[in-house]
Amino acid sequence: MELKNKTALITGSAKRVGKTLALALAERGCHIVVHYGRSADAARETVREIEACGVSAWAFSANLGDETAVAGVIPHALALAGRLDILINSASIFPPEDFLSADSQTWDRAMMVNLKTPFLLSQAFVRALPEGQPGKIINLLDVVAMRPQNHHFSYTISKTGLAGLTQAMAVAVAARNIQVNGIALGAILPNVNDDPALFARLVERIPARRTGSPADVAQAMLYLLDADFVTGEIIRVDGGRHLV
Ligand SMILES: NC(=O)c1ccc[n+]([C@@H]2O[C@H](COP(=O)([O-])OP(=O)(O)OC[C@H]3O[C@@H](n4cnc5c(N)ncnc54)[C@H](OP(=O)(O)O)[C@@H]3O)[C@@H](O)[C@H]2O)c1
Repeated sequence: MELKNKTALITGSAKRVGKTLALALAERGCHIVVHYGRSADAARETVREIEACGVSAWAFSANLGDETAVAGVIPHALALAGRLDILINSASIFPPEDFLSADSQTWDRAMMVNLKTPFLLSQAFVRALPEGQPGKIINLLDVVAMRPQNHHFSYTISKTGLAGLTQAMAVAVAARNIQVNGIALGAILPNVNDDPALFARLVERIPARRTGSPADVAQAMLYLLDADFVTGEIIRVDGGRHLV
């Protein structure tokens, strides 16, 4: 897909990885709808930085843990931008629990924000695409989805579900020239609740001997958006962590 003058909606893009993806797209001439949850100030700053790239940007908030609010996201983005060509599901929650400490509430929240919301947004996005207009969906996954471990249990299972959803949706919409792909991240940015020293120690278990950067994720995204015959693919951006 030629990105110039297309429009992308990126969930959770006020800061961190989502913001870097937004700016990488803006630098290629793509207009951006910034979705955010609570980070209103950061979203305003992100819009300013996107506009400095010479494209249009809009921002709005919606709670992706609330199904009624989720139902309004695609209509709201369309009302702001006039069209949508790309949906990037980046917003996510990362509750710290293992199998035995996970409870029903955490499970439901993780499944809603990390799995059901990407499903509902993708379905609404495809339904709203005019007949014959190509589209792209990219879901942000985690390498733990393909290699489960006993931490962040509900999160891991939600991302495993999102990997399955990515491939099932890819089959469902391929004939309409809509591609659905995933990027499975390894250690990119420490979570706000993570001990930075612990995050730094992850390097010892990464064959590349470094953690990644949001720019590494943006590279994979740009490839997937350029490639029109690649669908149902999940690219691991993890310095080889999944191999060892
Ligand atoms: N960072 C990493 O190293 C890493 C590793 C593996 C996978 N990933 C995946 O890559 C993606 C991006 O990572 P990240 O670290 O940038 O994510 P993040 O900082 O954990 O979350 C991104 C945004 O999601 C939004 N969000 C969460 N719950 C929401 C809700 N109920 N309603 C609306 N927005 C909500 C938040 O927006 P507000 O701040 O506006 O509230 C947050 O800024 C995620 O899907 C993550 O699982 C990241």
